Amino acid sequence: MPIRAAITAVHGYVPPDVLTNAELARMVDTTDAWITERTGIKERHILKGEGLGSSHMGAQAVAGLLAKTETDPGEIDLLICATTTPDFVHPCTANLICDMVGIRNIGSFDIQAACSGFIYALTTAHQFIAGGTYKKVVVVGADKMSAIVDYTDRATCVLFGDGAGAVLLEPNSDGYGIIDTMLRSDGSGAKYLHQKAGGSRMPPTDETVAKRMHYVHQEGASVYKFAVAGMAEATTELMARNNLRPDMIDWVVPHQANRRIIETTAERLGLPIDKVMFTIQKYGNTTTATIPLSLWDYETKLKKGDRLLLAAFGGGFTWGGAFVTWAYDGATASKLNGNAPASKLVKSSWL
Ligand SMILES: CC(C)(COP(=O)(O)OP(=O)(O)OC[C@H]1O[C@@H](n2cnc3c(N)ncnc32)[C@H](O)[C@@H]1OP(=O)(O)O)[C@@H](O)C(=O)NCCC(=O)NCCS
Repeated sequence: MPIRAAITAVHGYVPPDVLTNAELARMVDTTDAWITERTGIKERHILKGEGLGSSHMGAQAVAGLLAKTETDPGEIDLLICATTTPDFVHPCTANLICDMVGIRNIGSFDIQAACSGFIYALTTAHQFIAGGTYKKVVVVGADKMSAIVDYTDRATCVLFGDGAGAVLLEPNSDGYGIIDTMLRSDGSGAKYLHQKAGGSRMPPTDETVAKRMHYVHQEGASVYKFAVAGMAEATTELMARNNLRPDMIDWVVPHQANRRIIETTAERLGLPIDKVMFTIQKYGNTTTATIPLSLWDYETKLKKGDRLLLAAFGGGFTWGGAFVTWAYDGATASKLNGNAPASKLVKSSWL
């Protein structure tokens, strides 16, 4: 059996503040009924607090992961953070997370592939482990979307939330773990989903701020069409390549952007909806965190040997998926209720 990267633990973090549809209806011209019907979202969590960025949530998720697996930070060989909302342009968020949880002297870096970032990071981590030298790799998806969402744009602000999720990957030679992955991108899709200002092409100025160019710009209906096609391509290609019939799939773990996109994906695959993980109703679209947060939420239902199909679509455009054989019984894994003790985190003192 080849060496595969197996997910051996998962943990998540969502900040305590909740933004409900009813509250959004007081901020923009929308209703709970519209948001629920068009997206499936009822509420989302928002990170509040001065000086707190994506690294704060990522560090909480990673600290919880280390605590629940009784892993010493010194045992981790590599940490990859997928994020679209890094704390800073540099240093990268992975470096900050390592510092906050006490992981020292290892490689750590960010991956930016918008909502597909977790799939890209998982695929990258898999290569390090399959190469034979890396034994414990952490992949964390963390996004503070509330930092780049325009809360006067009703078509966009209802969709997103903040959160983080992390997985521990370890080598497995018994047939469990990441069996296959696929990644795709098409940069011509940038016009439909992007943030114009704040990067090197258009550094922030008074004008870019006044024109609200440092917020997510999305043409929702166009993105919707591409998302349905991308999710279908990722899942059907992985199923065909691995000779999987619908009845052989135990769980689909889709990126949570819109309930209707997920339902269409399941329909096209011929899969009953009860085999699909849904967390969008309570977290919204947390970008890179949706897939690990879903795994965390459903962890107790996952059984060793379950076949999972992960799929995501996002800005770029980017899309992709992973076929994973689950490596442990989630019901017997110690699921930490709540979050890791904050005292375990180091606060950056230089800001
Ligand atoms: C954003 C999204 C929910 C909008 O749903 P939709 O059914 O496509 O709606 P449309 O954009 O066609 O707009 C329909 C109408 O609803 C209105 N509308 C948009 N947002 C609204 C809101 N929050 N409340 C009430 N009405 C709203 C529009 O203004 C439009 O009104 P009009 O017909 O008078 O012009 C949907 O397009 C979507 O989910 N797109 C994909 C987003 C995505 O996946 N993004 C992340 C990729 S990872």
